[in-house]
Amino acid sequence: MRHLHLKEEEMFFDKKAEGVLERYESFLIDDPYYFLAGSSGAFEYSMKLAGDICGKRVLDYGCGSGWLSVHLAKMGANVCGFDISSKMLEVGVKRAQVNGVLEKLNFQKMKAEELSYPDDFFDAVLGVSVLHHIDIDKSARELTRTMKKGARSIFIEPLGENRLLNYVRSRGIQGRTKNEHPLKYADIERLKAYFSKVEYTEFQLFGMFERFIGSGLARFLKLDSLDRWLLSRFPGLKKLCRLVVISVEK
Ligand SMILES: C[S@@+](CC[C@H](N)C(=O)[O-])C[C@H]1O[C@@H](n2cnc3c(N)ncnc32)[C@H](O)[C@@H]1O
Repeated sequence: MRHLHLKEEEMFFDKKAEGVLERYESFLIDDPYYFLAGSSGAFEYSMKLAGDICGKRVLDYGCGSGWLSVHLAKMGANVCGFDISSKMLEVGVKRAQVNGVLEKLNFQKMKAEELSYPDDFFDAVLGVSVLHHIDIDKSARELTRTMKKGARSIFIEPLGENRLLNYVRSRGIQGRTKNEHPLKYADIERLKAYFSKVEYTEFQLFGMFERFIGSGLARFLKLDSLDRWLLSRFPGLKKLCRLVVISVEK
Protein backbone atom coordinates (compact mmCIF):
# COMPACT_ATOMS: atom_id res chain seq x y z
CA MET A 1 0.00 0.00 0.00
CA ARG A 2 1.35 3.46 -0.91
CA HIS A 3 2.08 5.97 1.82
CA LEU A 4 -0.14 8.98 1.17
CA HIS A 5 0.75 12.60 1.90
CA LEU A 6 -2.77 13.71 2.76
CA LYS A 7 -1.89 17.02 4.42
CA GLU A 8 0.21 18.08 1.41
CA GLU A 9 -2.59 17.04 -0.91
CA GLU A 10 -5.05 19.18 1.05
CA MET A 11 -2.72 22.20 1.05
CA PHE A 12 -2.00 21.84 -2.68
CA PHE A 13 -5.70 21.92 -3.56
CA ASP A 14 -6.52 24.62 -0.99
CA LYS A 15 -3.95 26.80 -2.75
CA LYS A 16 -5.33 25.91 -6.16
CA ALA A 17 -8.82 26.88 -4.97
CA GLU A 18 -7.66 30.45 -4.26
CA GLY A 19 -7.06 30.88 -7.99
CA VAL A 20 -10.54 29.62 -8.78
CA LEU A 21 -12.11 31.96 -6.23
CA GLU A 22 -10.49 34.92 -7.98
CA ARG A 23 -12.05 33.96 -11.35
CA TYR A 24 -15.67 34.44 -10.38
CA GLU A 25 -16.84 34.48 -14.00
CA SER A 26 -16.27 30.73 -14.36
CA PHE A 27 -18.81 29.91 -11.67
CA LEU A 28 -21.81 29.54 -13.95
CA ILE A 29 -22.02 25.95 -15.15
CA ASP A 30 -23.65 26.16 -18.58
CA ASP A 31 -21.17 23.95 -20.31
CA PRO A 32 -19.56 21.16 -18.25
CA TYR A 33 -17.13 20.50 -21.10
CA TYR A 34 -15.32 23.69 -20.12
CA PHE A 35 -13.97 21.84 -17.07
CA LEU A 36 -12.98 18.65 -18.84
CA ALA A 37 -9.65 19.62 -20.46
CA GLY A 38 -10.53 17.84 -23.67
CA SER A 39 -12.11 14.70 -22.27
CA SER A 40 -15.58 15.26 -23.70
CA GLY A 41 -15.90 11.78 -25.26
CA ALA A 42 -15.08 10.12 -21.93
CA PHE A 43 -17.58 12.38 -20.15
CA GLU A 44 -20.41 11.67 -22.62
CA TYR A 45 -19.74 7.95 -22.26
CA SER A 46 -19.73 8.22 -18.43
CA MET A 47 -23.02 10.08 -18.36
CA LYS A 48 -24.53 7.44 -20.65
CA LEU A 49 -23.37 4.74 -18.23
CA ALA A 50 -24.86 6.67 -15.30
CA GLY A 51 -28.27 6.68 -17.02
CA ASP A 52 -31.21 8.70 -15.70
CA ILE A 53 -30.06 10.26 -12.43
CA CYS A 54 -33.08 12.54 -11.91
CA GLY A 55 -34.37 12.17 -8.33
CA LYS A 56 -31.49 9.80 -7.43
CA ARG A 57 -28.98 10.23 -4.62
CA VAL A 58 -25.65 10.71 -6.40
CA LEU A 59 -22.14 11.18 -5.00
CA ASP A 60 -19.58 13.45 -6.70
CA TYR A 61 -16.50 11.61 -5.50
CA GLY A 62 -13.62 14.01 -4.74
CA CYS A 63 -15.76 16.86 -6.04
CA GLY A 64 -13.07 19.57 -5.98
CA SER A 65 -14.65 22.90 -6.89
CA GLY A 66 -18.00 21.23 -7.53
CA TRP A 67 -18.59 21.78 -11.27
CA LEU A 68 -19.80 18.19 -11.68
CA SER A 69 -21.95 18.36 -8.52
CA VAL A 70 -23.69 21.41 -9.93
CA HIS A 71 -24.13 19.79 -13.34
CA LEU A 72 -25.65 16.67 -11.72
CA ALA A 73 -27.94 18.79 -9.53
CA LYS A 74 -29.09 20.67 -12.62
CA MET A 75 -30.02 17.28 -14.10
CA GLY A 76 -32.31 16.74 -11.10
CA ALA A 77 -30.11 14.56 -8.85
CA ASN A 78 -29.76 15.04 -5.11
CA VAL A 79 -26.03 15.38 -4.85
CA CYS A 80 -23.47 14.82 -2.11
CA GLY A 81 -19.92 15.94 -2.77
CA PHE A 82 -16.86 15.37 -0.63
CA ASP A 83 -13.27 16.51 -0.90
CA ILE A 84 -10.20 16.73 1.30
CA SER A 85 -9.79 20.45 0.45
CA SER A 86 -12.13 22.74 2.39
CA LYS A 87 -11.21 25.68 0.13
CA MET A 88 -12.32 23.72 -2.95
CA LEU A 89 -15.59 22.97 -1.16
CA GLU A 90 -16.06 26.70 -0.49
CA VAL A 91 -15.81 27.24 -4.24
CA GLY A 92 -18.36 24.45 -4.69
CA VAL A 93 -20.83 26.16 -2.37
CA LYS A 94 -20.42 29.45 -4.30
CA ARG A 95 -20.93 27.63 -7.59
CA ALA A 96 -24.07 25.98 -6.22
CA GLN A 97 -25.43 29.36 -5.09
CA VAL A 98 -24.67 31.08 -8.39
CA ASN A 99 -26.32 28.23 -10.30
CA GLY A 100 -29.38 28.14 -8.03
CA VAL A 101 -29.00 24.50 -6.93
CA LEU A 102 -27.69 24.90 -3.36
CA GLU A 103 -30.69 23.08 -1.86
CA LYS A 104 -29.95 20.00 -3.97
CA LEU A 105 -26.34 19.79 -2.81
CA ASN A 106 -24.54 18.66 0.28
CA PHE A 107 -20.77 19.29 0.41
CA GLN A 108 -18.63 17.84 3.18
CA LYS A 109 -14.94 17.75 3.92
CA MET A 110 -13.96 14.09 4.01
CA LYS A 111 -11.18 11.71 3.06
CA ALA A 112 -12.00 9.10 0.43
CA GLU A 113 -10.37 6.57 2.74
CA GLU A 114 -12.79 7.41 5.62
CA LEU A 115 -16.26 8.25 4.36
CA SER A 116 -18.85 9.24 6.94
CA TYR A 117 -21.90 8.40 4.80
CA PRO A 118 -24.17 5.56 5.94
CA ASP A 119 -24.08 2.05 4.45
CA ASP A 120 -26.08 1.40 1.23
CA PHE A 121 -26.66 5.13 0.68
CA PHE A 122 -25.90 6.07 -2.94
CA ASP A 123 -27.78 5.17 -6.12
CA ALA A 124 -24.82 6.24 -8.27
CA VAL A 125 -21.32 7.68 -7.89
CA LEU A 126 -19.32 9.75 -10.36
CA GLY A 127 -15.74 10.90 -9.99
CA VAL A 128 -13.39 12.82 -12.26
CA SER A 129 -9.65 12.58 -11.84
CA VAL A 130 -9.67 11.41 -8.22
CA LEU A 131 -8.89 7.69 -7.93
CA HIS A 132 -5.32 8.35 -9.00
CA HIS A 133 -4.82 10.61 -5.95
CA ILE A 134 -6.03 8.21 -3.26
CA ASP A 135 -5.39 4.89 -1.54
CA ILE A 136 -7.31 2.57 -3.85
CA ASP A 137 -7.81 -0.33 -1.44
CA LYS A 138 -8.97 1.68 1.58
CA SER A 139 -11.17 3.91 -0.59
CA ALA A 140 -12.73 1.04 -2.54
CA ARG A 141 -13.72 -0.65 0.73
CA GLU A 142 -15.43 2.55 1.88
CA LEU A 143 -17.01 3.21 -1.49
CA THR A 144 -18.61 -0.21 -1.77
CA ARG A 145 -19.97 0.15 1.78
CA THR A 146 -21.77 3.38 0.91
CA MET A 147 -23.21 2.19 -2.45
CA LYS A 148 -26.63 0.56 -2.68
CA LYS A 149 -26.69 -3.02 -3.95
CA GLY A 150 -26.57 -2.93 -7.75
CA ALA A 151 -25.42 0.73 -7.78
CA ARG A 152 -22.69 1.78 -10.18
CA SER A 153 -19.66 4.06 -9.71
CA ILE A 154 -18.04 5.64 -12.73
CA PHE A 155 -14.64 7.31 -12.82
CA ILE A 156 -12.75 9.21 -15.50
CA GLU A 157 -9.06 8.82 -14.74
CA PRO A 158 -5.68 9.31 -16.41
CA LEU A 159 -4.23 6.05 -17.71
CA GLY A 160 -0.55 5.58 -16.93
CA GLU A 161 0.57 2.91 -19.40
CA ASN A 162 2.01 5.27 -22.05
CA ARG A 163 5.61 6.04 -21.02
CA LEU A 164 6.04 9.01 -23.31
CA LEU A 165 2.83 10.56 -22.02
CA ASN A 166 3.92 9.90 -18.44
CA TYR A 167 7.16 11.75 -19.17
CA VAL A 168 5.24 14.72 -20.60
CA ARG A 169 2.97 14.65 -17.54
CA SER A 170 5.95 14.64 -15.19
CA ARG A 171 7.19 17.83 -16.91
CA GLY A 172 3.74 19.45 -16.64
CA ILE A 173 3.60 23.11 -15.74
CA GLN A 174 0.44 22.87 -13.64
CA GLY A 175 2.18 21.08 -10.77
CA ARG A 176 1.39 17.70 -9.33
CA THR A 177 0.99 16.22 -5.89
CA LYS A 178 3.16 13.44 -4.48
CA ASN A 179 0.12 11.16 -4.24
CA GLU A 180 -0.75 11.49 -7.90
CA HIS A 181 0.03 8.52 -10.17
CA PRO A 182 -1.86 7.91 -13.44
CA LEU A 183 -3.56 4.54 -13.07
CA LYS A 184 -1.98 1.33 -14.33
CA TYR A 185 -4.08 -1.63 -15.42
CA ALA A 186 -2.86 -3.37 -12.24
CA ASP A 187 -4.52 -0.62 -10.12
CA ILE A 188 -7.82 -1.16 -11.93
CA GLU A 189 -7.54 -4.92 -11.51
CA ARG A 190 -7.29 -4.41 -7.72
CA LEU A 191 -10.84 -3.06 -7.72
CA LYS A 192 -12.09 -6.56 -8.56
CA ALA A 193 -11.55 -7.54 -4.92
CA TYR A 194 -14.26 -5.08 -3.82
CA PHE A 195 -16.91 -4.97 -6.56
CA SER A 196 -19.04 -7.60 -8.30
CA LYS A 197 -18.31 -6.10 -11.71
CA VAL A 198 -15.38 -3.98 -12.95
CA GLU A 199 -15.23 -2.72 -16.54
CA TYR A 200 -13.10 -0.11 -18.25
CA THR A 201 -12.80 1.64 -21.60
CA GLU A 202 -9.85 3.67 -22.83
CA PHE A 203 -10.25 7.11 -24.45
CA GLN A 204 -8.08 9.63 -26.24
CA LEU A 205 -5.42 8.23 -28.48
CA PHE A 206 -5.30 11.07 -31.02
CA GLY A 207 -8.11 12.67 -29.02
CA MET A 208 -5.55 13.65 -26.38
CA PHE A 209 -4.60 16.55 -28.67
CA GLU A 210 -8.09 18.04 -28.24
CA ARG A 211 -6.91 20.07 -25.26
CA PHE A 212 -4.28 21.75 -27.45
CA ILE A 213 -6.21 22.24 -30.70
CA GLY A 214 -9.61 22.97 -29.10
CA SER A 215 -12.83 20.99 -29.14
CA GLY A 216 -14.08 22.69 -32.36
CA LEU A 217 -11.16 21.49 -34.47
CA ALA A 218 -11.12 18.09 -32.71
CA ARG A 219 -14.79 17.64 -33.65
CA PHE A 220 -14.10 18.79 -37.23
CA LEU A 221 -11.26 16.25 -37.50
CA LYS A 222 -13.54 13.62 -35.88
CA LEU A 223 -10.73 12.58 -33.52
CA ASP A 224 -13.12 10.67 -31.23
CA SER A 225 -14.47 8.60 -34.13
CA LEU A 226 -10.96 8.04 -35.47
CA ASP A 227 -9.89 6.79 -32.02
CA ARG A 228 -12.91 4.46 -31.67
CA TRP A 229 -12.16 3.01 -35.11
CA LEU A 230 -8.45 2.55 -34.42
CA LEU A 231 -8.95 1.12 -30.93
CA SER A 232 -11.52 -1.41 -32.12
CA ARG A 233 -9.26 -2.56 -34.99
CA PHE A 234 -5.97 -2.44 -33.07
CA PRO A 235 -6.67 -3.16 -29.36
CA GLY A 236 -2.92 -3.05 -28.63
CA LEU A 237 -3.14 0.74 -28.98
CA LYS A 238 -5.52 1.04 -26.01
CA LYS A 239 -2.68 1.20 -23.49
CA LEU A 240 -1.33 4.32 -25.20
CA CYS A 241 -4.52 6.29 -24.45
CA ARG A 242 -4.60 9.25 -22.10
CA LEU A 243 -7.79 8.39 -20.22
CA VAL A 244 -9.75 5.45 -18.92
CA VAL A 245 -13.40 5.34 -17.82
CA ILE A 246 -13.83 2.79 -15.06
CA SER A 247 -17.23 1.43 -14.10
CA VAL A 248 -17.69 -0.68 -10.95
CA GLU A 249 -20.87 -2.26 -9.60
CA LYS A 250 -21.67 -3.40 -6.10
C1 LIG B 1 -7.61 16.62 -9.93
S1 LIG B 1 -8.70 17.15 -8.67
C2 LIG B 1 -10.29 16.75 -9.38
C3 LIG B 1 -11.41 17.47 -8.70
C4 LIG B 1 -12.77 17.36 -9.39
N1 LIG B 1 -13.24 16.00 -9.41
C5 LIG B 1 -12.73 17.97 -10.76
O1 LIG B 1 -13.01 17.26 -11.74
O2 LIG B 1 -12.45 19.16 -10.87
C6 LIG B 1 -8.51 15.93 -7.40
C7 LIG B 1 -9.33 16.23 -6.15
O3 LIG B 1 -9.21 15.14 -5.24
C8 LIG B 1 -9.13 15.66 -3.93
N2 LIG B 1 -8.48 14.65 -3.09
C9 LIG B 1 -7.20 14.23 -3.19
N3 LIG B 1 -6.97 13.26 -2.28
C10 LIG B 1 -8.12 13.08 -1.60
C11 LIG B 1 -8.51 12.21 -0.54
N4 LIG B 1 -7.66 11.33 0.01
N5 LIG B 1 -9.79 12.29 -0.09
C12 LIG B 1 -10.65 13.19 -0.62
N6 LIG B 1 -10.34 14.02 -1.63
C13 LIG B 1 -9.09 13.96 -2.10
C14 LIG B 1 -8.34 16.95 -4.10
O4 LIG B 1 -8.52 17.85 -3.04
C15 LIG B 1 -8.89 17.48 -5.43
O5 LIG B 1 -9.97 18.35 -5.26
